Amino acid sequence: MENFAPPRGMRDFYPEDYRIREYIFNAWEYAAKIYGFEFWDAPVVESMELLERKAGEEISEQIYSFEDKSKRRLALRAELTPSLARMIINRQGGLSFPLKWASIGQCFRYERMTRGRKREHYQFNLDIIGEESTTAETEVIAATLTSLEKTGLSEKEIRVHIGSRKLLVELLSEFKLSEAQLTACYMALDKKGKVSDEEINKILKNENIPEEVINKLFRVISISSLEEAESYLPENSEALKELKEFFKFSESYGISKYLKFDISIVRGLGYYTGIVFEGKAVKSNLRTVFGGGRYNNLLSSLGGRELPCVGMGFGDVVIMELLSDCRKLPGQRHGIEYIIGYMNADCAEFAQKAAAKIRKSGKSCSVGLKPEKPKQFFKKADRNNAHNAIYIGPDELESGKITIKNMKKSEDTIKSFAELP
Ligand code: HAM
Repeated sequence: MENFAPPRGMRDFYPEDYRIREYIFNAWEYAAKIYGFEFWDAPVVESMELLERKAGEEISEQIYSFEDKSKRRLALRAELTPSLARMIINRQGGLSFPLKWASIGQCFRYERMTRGRKREHYQFNLDIIGEESTTAETEVIAATLTSLEKTGLSEKEIRVHIGSRKLLVELLSEFKLSEAQLTACYMALDKKGKVSDEEINKILKNENIPEEVINKLFRVISISSLEEAESYLPENSEALKELKEFFKFSESYGISKYLKFDISIVRGLGYYTGIVFEGKAVKSNLRTVFGGGRYNNLLSSLGGRELPCVGMGFGDVVIMELLSDCRKLPGQRHGIEYIIGYMNADCAEFAQKAAAKIRKSGKSCSVGLKPEKPKQFFKKADRNNAHNAIYIGPDELESGKITIKNMKKSEDTIKSFAELP
């Protein structure tokens, strides 16, 4: 073997990378738990039948699929939502809705590699299943923002752009577009900012969207405020009512400062039906940090009962870059509480017993795997950011007195074996 790098787009986590990943996972778990979401998980491998959709989405072309030895068509999941839908449908008779579910799962997409997009990522998901009210959108976004705040980010760094597919449908209602045509419009609009307007125009023409619709579409997505949208909508507009309600709930949740109405947000997945949102970095030119929305038809389209759902996905790649750009990545390793070294083989047993006692008390402790000279040992203790260092030599063995060196304060405390934690 000549090349020791992982396959292109796949990721190794060396301890320093793993530490950052753990830091992000902890923030996600913290937020999910304090908002009362319950964690779930599913296999990374799913049946291709569950994952394939016809909507012309980018994600469908990015699936890693394969046949197993029994010729089953399988795939690595590209997102968690189909697995969630499968699990809900499987038990839909026995579950009490609404459910608030959270997950952190590894996803694979054969993606064109750019900054913030890899072929493997971990994705945090929050979903509320079985709730019509826009309290669900508010709750999902608020919990997501809490996880970002846990990493030290604030409204100075993150903006949540709020759009609505329903609003777009209402604004285009005069054209009587089919579901397929509407989906084609969403998929093309999702590319806005990533490709030129001419390119989007071309995509829409290829999808047989009439010229007048394309023109209106471009006019509509240049609407800059909810008030402006209101002037084009009938009084009984359901989309407007939902958005206003959502913005009102967001005030009481204390998250309004993060939100911005942005009609051009439509998202690139076929299943969204209502309010959609994307969390973006305010300053840096990064890819979307998290995204989601309401998807009221996915479960029924897979053969389950009709259940209104809202959810979001938040990957670990962009947030790592954002934290790095904002200099908010966690500092050096947290450090071990105790580190123990010893001079020779005779001292090993005493050192190992001391380590076993300390670990039983729940404190972390690393004991040398072979004898070391004191100088080497204290250098290592420093490198490992150990809080306390104990070195066992013949004197300690004979007297039973152990010197615990507090590495930060450079202070020594002498204790007997029984007095160790
Ligand atoms: P998505 O927009 O495809 O939505 O992905 C959500 C997030 O996952 C993105 O904003 C990004 O943070 C991360 N992500 C996606 N692809 C990659 C990649 N190739 N490399 C790194 N990060 C990536 C969904 O997946 C929906 N299933 C979310 C959802 C849950 N909607 C409802 N419930």
